[in-house]
Amino acid sequence: MERTFAYLKPNAIQRGLVGEIITTLEKKGFKIVALKMIVMDEHLAGELYREHTGKDFFVPLMKFVQSGPVVAMVLEGENAIKRLRHTVGRTDPLEADAGSIRGRYGVSVRKNLIHASDSPESASREIALFFEEREILDYTLALEGEL
Ligand code: TYD
Ligand code: MG
Repeated sequence: MERTFAYLKPNAIQRGLVGEIITTLEKKGFKIVALKMIVMDEHLAGELYREHTGKDFFVPLMKFVQSGPVVAMVLEGENAIKRLRHTVGRTDPLEADAGSIRGRYGVSVRKNLIHASDSPESASREIALFFEEREILDYTLALEGEL
């Protein structure tokens, strides 16, 4: 089983889409093994998006992601990293598959509702930025293994 990291961006919380997005993830067979609501600070946001430092969208992105609470989570499942990226959809909601989360609910690139790790390296790095190992829980789902 692979682990990946996702967080719902401040506009997902503002728009009351937390339940719907989490429902989509559960129905898609992701197991939530860690979950919390936090407000990101400058340091955390800068670390998370360090690959984008200096790009034209970096400063507005920093401001947006710190603008309110986010819901951070660790998801577990078969091919979780690639499957989550597919479920989330392309960065620009206009290019995202209509059935993806960004395609369904997204309006603009900056406020594309949800982040998903893009590789095994990013997933481990991002999980460690947001969660301590003891916050990642081990339990069994009722239907596990029957997806
Ligand atoms: P990126 O890592 O390219 O996208 P993804 O979230 O799909 O991995 O960019 C990180 C975030 O930066 C993206 O989710 C939204 C924001 N962003 C912009 O605001 N403008 C842009 O032109 C790009 C490429 C990204
Ligand atoms: Mg990215």
